[in-house]
This record gives sequence, C-alpha cells and structure tokens, in this order.
Amino acid sequence: MLTSFLPVRHVSEFAADVRQSLTKLGQRELPSKYLYDEVGSALFETICVLPEYGLTRADARLMEKHAGEIVRRLPSPIKVAELGSGSGKKTRWILEALSRRQRTYYYPIEISPSALAACAKELGQIDLVSVVGHEQPYLEGLRTVAEGRGEQDHLLVLFLGSTIGNFDRHAGEEFLKETREILQPGDALLLGTDLEKSVELQILAYDDPAGVTAAFNLNLLARINRELGADFDLCCFRHEARWNNVERRIEMHLRSTRRQTVHVPVASLRFMLNEDETIWTESSHKYKAEEIPQMAERTGFRCDGQWIDRQWPFAQNLLVAE
Ligand code: AVI
Repeated sequence: MLTSFLPVRHVSEFAADVRQSLTKLGQRELPSKYLYDEVGSALFETICVLPEYGLTRADARLMEKHAGEIVRRLPSPIKVAELGSGSGKKTRWILEALSRRQRTYYYPIEISPSALAACAKELGQIDLVSVVGHEQPYLEGLRTVAEGRGEQDHLLVLFLGSTIGNFDRHAGEEFLKETREILQPGDALLLGTDLEKSVELQILAYDDPAGVTAAFNLNLLARINRELGADFDLCCFRHEARWNNVERRIEMHLRSTRRQTVHVPVASLRFMLNEDETIWTESSHKYKAEEIPQMAERTGFRCDGQWIDRQWPFAQNLLVAE
C-alpha cells in the first residue's frame, strides 16, 4: 500500500521529478528537496546535533554573540521574514534583540505546515513578537510579505544555516537576485554561509561514524518506496560523501553495490543500475569569506557586515539592498 503523505498534486510532481532526474543522461540524480519528508526532517534535526556537524552550532553561536550588533545596523521600523521556518534557537536571538526596541512582526516562510506550527509555538511566546506563518515557496512567500508591509516598514530577510549552499553556485546567485528584486533599497538579508575547511573535517560532517547522515540519504530511496511504490533494496546501496575540489562542494551520493533493476510504478519507470553506479542526491557548496561581498555586489546588495565563527569556519553576512 502507498502512504499518502503528500497531496495528490504533489505526488504527481514528485513522480515526474523522480523520473526526470533518474533518467538523466550520464550521472543519475534525485532532487535534494525530497530528502525532507517527516523521517528525513527528523534525521536532519539529529544531524544538527552531531559532534561532526559543526555548522548549526556555529550558526547559532554567531547569532547569540552578534544579534545586538546586527540589529543596531538595521533601519527602523523593520519586519522580519525567514526563508525556512528556522530552528527557534537561532532566530530567537534576533527577535529578542529587535523586540527590545519595537513590536516585531516575524513571518516564517515554509511549505511544511508542521514546521510552521512548531516555529510559531516556539517563537510566538517572545514578548512583543507576533508570528504570522506563510505556507508558500520561499520567493512566493517573500513577495506576499513584501506586498503587505506598510510604507515605512523595512524588511530583514533571514536565510540561515547555509541553505544557499544547497543550490548550484549559479542558481544561488539567481536566487539572491530574485530576492533583491522583491526588496526595497535599505532592506537587509542576513545570509549564513558555511566556509571551506579541511577536506577531512568536511567529509566527516557528511559521513558521520554513527551513520545518521547515511540514514538521511538512504531515506530518500525509502521515501520513494513508500510514496511511489518503488522497490529500491536499501541493502544494495551505500552512502557516500565526496569533496569536489573544482566546484568546492560536498556531494552526497548513493552507490549501488551490485547490478540491479529498480521499478518505480507511480513514475512509470523501470531502470537498471550498474554495480558501482551512483545516484547524486545533494550538493553542499562551501565558500571563502571574501567571495561573499563579491557575490553581494553581483546580486544587487552590499555586504555591510560579516561575522565569522573561529571554532567552525562559518560566516553570518549582513547584505543590504542597494
Ligand atoms: C540544509 N543544508 C544546509 C544541509 C547541508 O549541510 O548542506 C543539509 C545536509 N545534508 C547532509 N547533512 C546536512
């Protein structure tokens, strides 16, 4: 029996995406956004507390330490939109600092209703903070928020956790340009970016000894089995994290440990995988601190501040719309 976690429209979209990416000429792929069903999201939360995955803690440390200074650099009055509903922890520092000077409206933008509800519960309790969730894709939600603001209001957009790194570099810049088009001059974007570190540390962060990231990656095949009736045999795949030195990114793959045929009925797809062939499931681009101001300039922003965590090289960048 197929579980129906997604509404019907989404099932057909999921099936079409799976079919298209698995039948690509050359390297087979699966879109990384499908890693995050209920199980995948729970596994990702666990990744965030793994000792080997320092990214989330660095992001939170920077927010805790510099929220006051970041807020002092922002115009007033200002409303806050977050792309992704954020873990309450990171966003809390900024909202608390802002609410010391004004009533603060916070708009998390997210396609998962359960994540939005959790976020509203966590952050809606801060004094003088009103949370209004938008169950929409990022840019669509941001447009709604921008259109609904008062004439005097500025906007601060939070895009934390180095989610930008999951876009290809070119697509990431296009995304920043589209974000800029929605904003007014003087509005701000707080962008979290994971910085390059030793290859060994980066690989460990995406291939932890407890196997949580492996489970996160393999769950994508399990999800396709559950929702599209596929017959991926998870025992015949191995998680792999690679550093691509040319693109400066970690790539997650699933390697087929034998020649096998897979059937995905809902996607009307049957295909053969060779032994050692891989399915590429995610990229995580890493940055050099100095490339962020350049990226800002190319996308209609100016970098007004950059804070770097020394324990786990990660940068919080305050970009201001020009
Ligand atoms: C959500 N994103 C920023 C994470 C990352 O580091 O690219 C997703 C992740 N994939 C494996 N571990 C974490």
